[in-house]
Amino acid sequence: MEKRSELYRGKAKTVYQTDDPNRLILEFRNDTSAFDGEKVEQLDDKGMVNNRFNHFIMTRLEEAGIPTQLDRLLSDNESLVKKLDMIPVECVVRNVAAGSLVRRLGVEEGKALNPPTFEFFLKNDALHDPMVNEYHIQAFGWATKEQIEQMKTLTFKVNAVLKSLFEQAGLILVDYKLEFGVCDGELVLGDEFTPDGCRLWDAKTREKLDKDRFRQGLGGVVEAYREVAQRLGVQLS
Ligand code: TMP
Repeated sequence: MEKRSELYRGKAKTVYQTDDPNRLILEFRNDTSAFDGEKVEQLDDKGMVNNRFNHFIMTRLEEAGIPTQLDRLLSDNESLVKKLDMIPVECVVRNVAAGSLVRRLGVEEGKALNPPTFEFFLKNDALHDPMVNEYHIQAFGWATKEQIEQMKTLTFKVNAVLKSLFEQAGLILVDYKLEFGVCDGELVLGDEFTPDGCRLWDAKTREKLDKDRFRQGLGGVVEAYREVAQRLGVQLS
């Protein structure tokens, strides 16, 4: 597999073309960003931890019948993935109130949500990822009605799989963000699943073990990611 030119540089990952037109390389960098790129820092080993974490989670999801973008791990910081046409919306499921939900609705952080909630956000840093609904998504042509239904179904299926996986590791899956794309007409889970894009709390102490440590300046960011990885049995180098 030959790595070719850079296709896109995101806030934490770089995407490269390869000699195979159907495959891309995702490079997980140490850059850590919050508040739509307003706060950025380099955290040693974060790229390696997130790349291996993502590979572990995507493999569990594939085993559960969820189609993902992942092909294989290439190195500490790189994974080979299928080339997708990305849908520019983020799918967020929340099991427990935190983050923007708490700010928006003035509800108490930590309240269990029954049923878990689902929200769409437009991927647009300049606009601070505004919340959108199914009408906006269809009216602006970001996805079809059928793709919207499939994104909701798959995002909740991921919840069933991962809630129990994290529970067995003594962790609460508070909320998470997924992105989807299309490959050969099929809706496929893309991007990443790492502690950069979800909230994970220790089940006993409720200690935050995700990117909120960075957002809130709590320190020990990569240490927390390593702790989660170790509890799940993710092989780190
Ligand atoms: P929020 O509480 O800020 O809306 O975020 C909900 C979850 O989605 C949280 O786990 C963080 C994740 N998320 C991202 O990873 N990137 C984003 O751009 C947004 C809006 C949320």
